[in-house]
Amino acid sequence: MADFDFDVLVIGAGPGGYVAAIRAAQLGLKTACAESRETLGGTCLNVGCIPSKALLHASEYFDAAANGAMAKMGIKVTPELDLPAMHAQRLDAVKSLTGGIEFLFKKNKVEWLKGRASFESADTVKVGDRTVRAKNIVIATGSSVTPLPGVEIDEKIVVSSTGALELEKVPDHLVVIGGGVIGLELGSVWRRVGAKVTCVEFLDQILPGFDDDVRKEANKIFKKQGIEFRLGTKVTGVKVDGGKATLTVEPAKGGAAETIEADAVLVSIGRRPNTEGLALDKAGLQVNQRGQIETDHEFRTSVPSVWAIGDVIPGPMLAHKAEDEGIAVAENIAGLTGIVNHDVIPSVVYTMPEIAGVGLTEAQAREHGDVKVGKFPMLANSRAKTNHEPDGFVKVIADAKTDRVLGVWMIASVAGTMVAQAAQAMEFGATSEDIAYTCHAHPTHSEALKEAAMAVTGKPIHI
Ligand code: FAD
Ligand code: NAI
Repeated sequence: MADFDFDVLVIGAGPGGYVAAIRAAQLGLKTACAESRETLGGTCLNVGCIPSKALLHASEYFDAAANGAMAKMGIKVTPELDLPAMHAQRLDAVKSLTGGIEFLFKKNKVEWLKGRASFESADTVKVGDRTVRAKNIVIATGSSVTPLPGVEIDEKIVVSSTGALELEKVPDHLVVIGGGVIGLELGSVWRRVGAKVTCVEFLDQILPGFDDDVRKEANKIFKKQGIEFRLGTKVTGVKVDGGKATLTVEPAKGGAAETIEADAVLVSIGRRPNTEGLALDKAGLQVNQRGQIETDHEFRTSVPSVWAIGDVIPGPMLAHKAEDEGIAVAENIAGLTGIVNHDVIPSVVYTMPEIAGVGLTEAQAREHGDVKVGKFPMLANSRAKTNHEPDGFVKVIADAKTDRVLGVWMIASVAGTMVAQAAQAMEFGATSEDIAYTCHAHPTHSEALKEAAMAVTGKPIHI
């Protein structure tokens, strides 16, 4: 340790970095974490997962009161929107959770080096005006919004997800560019509290990467909720004048251009890895064509003392993926065996209903061989029906020969919670029969997963 300041220096305190730092410290390694933000927790806690869920949750209550869903259950209310209070509870959630990470750093003796980090060499990093040497350096710098060429984000009228979380008034018309996870979650928030929302998506269908049946059904549900879709359409420019935006759009495959007027425009066409300013070259590192840092399965880069995890490396840009990689990298640094099974990483869109999936889509599974598919509608699930939540289904995809579950996809009010059960089953190599013969509590939404599994080889009971 003689001339090293730390065993481990983590750059970035998002879900990847802060978890790696805490686990490294728990394993007895002297650990520091460099973070340039005022608060810990990264994108996820400050401007991502947590504040978006705070607004989704609150706006869902507002919508239930406003659209008659509560009246259906005998509760008559006329809601009044207090947007500043809605934002205040969002900020409270962020403050309490980011403060919680600071507490955990202190508890585990992780030193927070405040400031931007950049490499001086493969084992030396400058953070602000301090230069530190570490035996191991973990890059966990995350990602930021992908800009749309020719469209300037001012975070007032033309916003990224960060500005869309903070709008001070409900826009009359919000145009969302990109029908991916951010567009649908934040589009839903503002639609529920009264905005007209139009979603312009380049591809012929929303939610790329999700199972096709789920994509089609989700599209129908969002349309029913009042979101207007312009699929197969590209935005070629956005002009802002007098507090309004004018978007120029044209068919993705070519054709006549037209304009759309908006009060706010959300640019949500993906995110890109953060490596700018890190001086990776001084550490002897390069990025790949997509700007990501490549690692081996232990999360070690091409330079033995440098490791990388989370959004900055290939794979889905998800907080739980980053967290699991954070634990694994710390364990690998400590000489243990840290593993992440990248075949079983659930994805959840936190709309109402929620949309979730894990493993292969049906189309991907069919590329590998014969499959059997079982489906069960939420309409036939007693709990969903009782709760007035008829939309959605569960779909189980299994190998035709071995019956091993290859993928599970679902739309249901609590799909984000249900998908954990599917992930656990897949992690243990379950067959559809294993799920079908597992006793599920009644009445729960999870019974729809059991019945979809029953539908793979035989017949469900309730349809
Ligand atoms: P980040 O969380 O991006 O953290 C990286 C940190 O590194 C940042 O705090 C940054 O300031 C710091 N940093 C960068 N460069 C330097 C430097 N040179 N020196 C010092 N510090 C530096 N994922 C989910 O799983 N569920 C969700 O519900 C969800 N919702 C989201 C909603 C929104 C609106 C957005 C934008 C994202 C959402 N995500 C969600 C994605 C999730 O936030 C990311 O996948 C996750 O934060 C990635 O974690 P990370 O640790 O790799 O990086
Ligand atoms: P995304 O990749 O989910 O969706 C981007 C969408 O924009 C795609 O449908 C794409 O076809 C479309 N698009 C790209 N260029 C376009 C153009 N020029 N015009 C119109 N459409 C265009 O990216 P998004 O929504 O920005 O989210 C970024 C990341 O953040 C995602 O990778 C996601 O994993 C993560 N995230 C996760 C959440 C969750 O887990 N619930 C919530 C929010 C974000």
